[in-house]
Amino acid sequence: MTDGLDPFELASLITAHDDGNYAEAVVPPIFQTSLFTFSDYDDMISSYRGEKVRPIYTRGLNPTVRAFEQMLAKLEGAEDALGFASGMSAISSAVLSFVEPGDRIVAVKHVYPDAFRLFGTILKRMKVEVTYVDGRDEEAVAKALPGAKVFYMESPTSWVMETHDVGALAALAKKHGVVSMIDNSWASPFFQRPITLGVDLVIHSASKYLGGHSDVVAGVVAGSKDMIARLKAETYPYLGGKLSPFDAWLLIRGLRTLPIRMKAHQAAALDIARRLQELDIVEQVCHPGLANRLPAGLNGTSGLFSFIFREGVDIRAFADHLKLFKLGVSWGGHESLIVPGEVVLQQKAQPNSAHAFGIHARSVRLHVGLEGTEALWSDLQEAIAVAT
Ligand SMILES: Cc1ncc(COP(=O)(O)O)c(C=O)c1O
Repeated sequence: MTDGLDPFELASLITAHDDGNYAEAVVPPIFQTSLFTFSDYDDMISSYRGEKVRPIYTRGLNPTVRAFEQMLAKLEGAEDALGFASGMSAISSAVLSFVEPGDRIVAVKHVYPDAFRLFGTILKRMKVEVTYVDGRDEEAVAKALPGAKVFYMESPTSWVMETHDVGALAALAKKHGVVSMIDNSWASPFFQRPITLGVDLVIHSASKYLGGHSDVVAGVVAGSKDMIARLKAETYPYLGGKLSPFDAWLLIRGLRTLPIRMKAHQAAALDIARRLQELDIVEQVCHPGLANRLPAGLNGTSGLFSFIFREGVDIRAFADHLKLFKLGVSWGGHESLIVPGEVVLQQKAQPNSAHAFGIHARSVRLHVGLEGTEALWSDLQEAIAVAT
């Protein structure tokens, strides 16, 4: 776990929820309601005047959603957080809150493909330019930043698992007065807390490790009170991608087991990555844990990595023979998944980011779930045997 959060603090965080006293329940209730009524005229007018903060309509404020936001903010070391209906809703709200026509954003290469498409469609139509830089090249980042409004990072990235020195890049953005944001879905706050490294806004696809059970699509943005207030004023209520109370409740449930799940994903994935690296038919394994050391601020590795087969392996036969690993695009849940790179390269979506994203035709992305290393390794070995 990253600096600044000791084990006791973490333990109390994952068992607490919010300040509400719901008959001392250990789990907060699901406020499955669209609106909250007022006791009388005075109650109503004081809320409208902003004299008291209270839920009025769930798109604005809902206690279950708020409980999740407060838990996540604390886990990230942030002052505040906002829950969204998806990771993409969180990304679009965050970016759109800080740009207007004529502005420029700088983004690291190999960002999540739909973020790339957001930049290449809606932002392009808004006349917002995007400069892509290699996040490993601090000189190139420093050159690109002057005059930009937003610096968008993802580290590790989610196909080639490229890592960046997030603290150093955030310091460069600060020096140039550029708002920095990072997609922290891969590491989760258990292994990386970018706010403590100087990043302004942390974004998650909560559909991944925060939820952890592949039963929810959600997103969240965490940051300072001022930054989150800017989202609330600029985009959040009007784009309307609000996290639902039931999904917030599932996320609270997911966060309780984040530490033990992340440790299990880390151990199994690293073990499998090392075994794959020993095989002659594997050209390269892309897993940050195989490097001599992790970049500063990244204190562990998750279950998502990729590898490249040497020529001559029948990837279709490999994929079809797997039993525990299912073919599936998401990750972060209890289940193990694979995505063959050659399939993603066939995607018709525009603009097609597959190449920009760093996907090799002979690569396979694995998400190592919680089924147990030995069973997963046997599954891989049997599939490799029929494919070679
Ligand atoms: C790294 C990353 N960021 C963001 C997203 C988007 O999140 P969502 O699917 O919750 O909108 C995804 C989804 O796969 C992702 O992999």
